[in-house]
Parts: sequence; structure tokens; C-alpha cells
Amino acid sequence: MVIDLDMPFWQQIQSIIEKKIGIDLSARVNREHFESICKRSNLIQKLKKEEYIALLETANPSHHPEWVFLLDALNVSESFFFRDKKQLELIENLVLPDLVRQKNNLEIIKVWSAGCSTGQEPYTLAIIIEKIKRVFPDSKFIIYASDINFHSIKIAAEAVYHPWSVRISDPVLLDDFFEKKGEKLRFKSEKTTSVHFELTNLISDPFPKNFDLILCRNVFIYMKQEYIQRVIEKFSESINPNGYLLIGHAEYTGKMPKVLETMLFANSVIYKKVIYKSTPSNLASENSTTIPKAINPTSIKAVGKNESIFELETRLEKSCKAGNQNDILEIYSKIPSIEKLSSKSLLCFIKSFMTNQKQKAIPLCEYWIEREPLNTQPYFLLAQIFESIGKFDSATESYKKVIYLNPTHKESIVSLYQLYKRNNDLESAMKVKKMGSQFF
Ligand SMILES: C[S@@+](CC[C@H](N)C(=O)[O-])C[C@H]1O[C@@H](n2cnc3c(N)ncnc32)[C@H](O)[C@@H]1O
Repeated sequence: MVIDLDMPFWQQIQSIIEKKIGIDLSARVNREHFESICKRSNLIQKLKKEEYIALLETANPSHHPEWVFLLDALNVSESFFFRDKKQLELIENLVLPDLVRQKNNLEIIKVWSAGCSTGQEPYTLAIIIEKIKRVFPDSKFIIYASDINFHSIKIAAEAVYHPWSVRISDPVLLDDFFEKKGEKLRFKSEKTTSVHFELTNLISDPFPKNFDLILCRNVFIYMKQEYIQRVIEKFSESINPNGYLLIGHAEYTGKMPKVLETMLFANSVIYKKVIYKSTPSNLASENSTTIPKAINPTSIKAVGKNESIFELETRLEKSCKAGNQNDILEIYSKIPSIEKLSSKSLLCFIKSFMTNQKQKAIPLCEYWIEREPLNTQPYFLLAQIFESIGKFDSATESYKKVIYLNPTHKESIVSLYQLYKRNNDLESAMKVKKMGSQFF
């Protein structure tokens, strides 16, 4: 049967698809192409034009077979493991460690892969989270993943993929997280934090709340700006304060909600939800999107007798160079709060306390780690302190964190090897030696 896809009918279909699921059909298929899609639909051939339009208007796109057919036919489900590695590196090295630090093992970190297609993206996140949990074993995660396409969610739940889907994955990870299933590969979801799949239409469904990280990548490429803006507004309400939103590269150029602060990186943009306190001064700039500047140490008012933080830090630098312990202690007693100290001053205090005031150095290291979770130096110093006071388990954990952040950190690799050997854990010692073979 020949389908009469006249102009008004075609325009009505385009407009319903855009309104119901946000997809801009004009950018995907032309009328001739859509005609060929229609030939494969049973319903469009059986129903009158107005009946077909009414059906699309009233049926749920996530459940009705005609919508499922259209979503499949529009071919918008392309996905693969470790897609956009640079962005994933930022998630692994910056976003997740920051969330782990924020939650301090007390709360679950909630992650949502929105528009997850056949599951490669949330499973990639699950692998990254396993890597994070090796360093922060007490951190807790939950992963939600959603898509509008019923077929995609079904495939995602089965987790069986063509090898092409894992083409850019690290071979070690392939061994750890996949097993052969005939010609295909099964993702071993039982080895990771479980992924909860849901059917969700980003355009019309209400969003769940309290997420710490939302990923919505390669979904907006099919949508017009006004729909993207609406979805981003909804995301911004679903993200916890200090939580993150990541979208695909250059997928949206419009206005961002003011609570989402832009963090620019060489290969990616991250949005972080900030909460502006309603003080009279920032109420005045309610609509501004500028981000509060960091405090300049020279601008902090005088503290203690007559010395400002800036003056104390300058004096500290000199005392550290001269190794004058009494001066350093005297300056320490005048510091109103360690939060005001620069990293250089923290290092100076920690080093001078490491010889005979180790209990003072520990909270300084811990605070520094909290402030700069990706800096190896405070982890390494902490490991050395723990080792010197016989807290070997804590020292081991801290050395492991340094090596996680910098796999070629020679001093940590050698120290960890010696620690394992001293504790007769020869198997672990050999593993460390193998990993850092160039240093032995
Ligand atoms: C290209 S895939 C992206 C998959 C994955 N995020 C990635 O980057 O590899 C786009 C997905 O967005 C989904 N999608 C499109 N419109 C949607 C909507 N209104 N609600 C939910 N999902 C939608 C499609 O079904 C498709 O699975």
C-alpha cells in the first residue's frame, strides 16, 4: 500500500513527535525517508490519517508499540562503552572523588544516566565507580539509568553486546568486567554497583530528585534548544547542592539556569550546582550568572594582635626555611582557622610537626585532602605519619590512594611494597613490585 504522506499530514506528525518526545524530526529525516519508515508501520496503513494522529497524541511513547516502532526507526540509539574518554576521565578524577569527599562515606552518592540507550553509558559508569571504590572502599553509590525506548531498556537489562560496542575499552577492564556469550560479550553487572533501569520520557515525565551526578550525553543532539532548556531546568531541580551535570560536547549553547556554575576544561564542560545564600548583596545581583571569586589572602583583615593572615604566612615561610621550630609553633598558635591557610603553609606546618608532634600533623593532612582530593602530597605525608606511628593499615590505605592518583609515584610504590613485606603479606608485596617493576 502506498502511504499518502501529504505535506499537512507530515507536518502534523513532525509537530507531535517534537511536542511529545522533543526530537526535531526535520533534522533527522526528510519526507521521502519518513515515507519509507511508514511502509514498515502496520498502523499507519490501517488507520485514517486523523485516527493515526489521535493515536500518537494520546499514546504513551514509552509503552505504545507504534511509538516504540517510531523510536527504533528513527535510529537515535547509538552508544558504546567509554564514549568520550576525556569527559569520563574528568568524572573519574575530579567529579567522583569530590562527591566521595562531600559524602564522607555517610551518604549514598546517587548517579543518573539519562537517555542511557542500551546501557553502555551506565555500565561504563559502574566500571569507573568500581575503580573509585578500590581507593575509597567505604564509599556508597547507586546508579539509575533511563531511556524513553522500551527496546533499548530491555537490551540494557540483558547487558549482552556486540564486541564493536566495547571497541575502545581498556583490555584489562574487558577481562575484568566482560565474559564471552557466543559471539557476543556479557557485561558482568553482578561485579559492580547495580544499575536500576527505568523508562522515562525526559520531555513529559516528572524527574526523580536528589542526584549528585546526572549524565545526559548525545541526547540533546536530536532536540531543539527550547526543549533542551526545559530538560536542563528540570535537571537543575533534581541535582543536590554541589552536585554535577554533564552533557555532551557542545550540545547546548543556550542559557544555563543560574544555579549551575560552569567549569571549563580543555575537552569538556562540567556544570556544578551552587547555592547562592540570600544575603542583601547577592540578592541585588539575583539574575547575574557570575561566580563568587575565591578569597584573596591579602584581603583578609588583621587577626590576633596586629598580624594579618598574610603577615603570619610570610613569617611562617621564613621560619620554615630557617627550621625555627619555636617560631613555627608560635605562629601556629595565632592562626585563627586552618581553612584560611594556603597549601604552602599547610605543608610547612605538617613537615615541621612530622618529627615530634605527629598528632598535630594528622588533622592538617586530612583537612588538606578534603580541600584538594586529587593532590597526592597530603595522602603521601599522611601515609608516612601513619607508618611512623605503627598504624600500618591506615598507612597502606593512604599509599594506595597516592598510587591510584599517580600510578608511577615511586616513593609510595616502594614504601607500600616494604610495608606489605614487613607484614608478611608477600602476595600483595609481589603485586606492587610487579606494578612498579621499573623502581626495583
Ligand atoms: C545517541 S543515544 C545516547 C546514549 C548515551 N547517552 C551515549 O551517549 O552513548 C540517545 C538516546 O536518547 C534517547 N532519547 C531521545 N529522546 C528522549 C526523550 N525524550 N526521553 C528520554 N530519552 C530520550 C534515545 O532513545 C536514545 O537512546
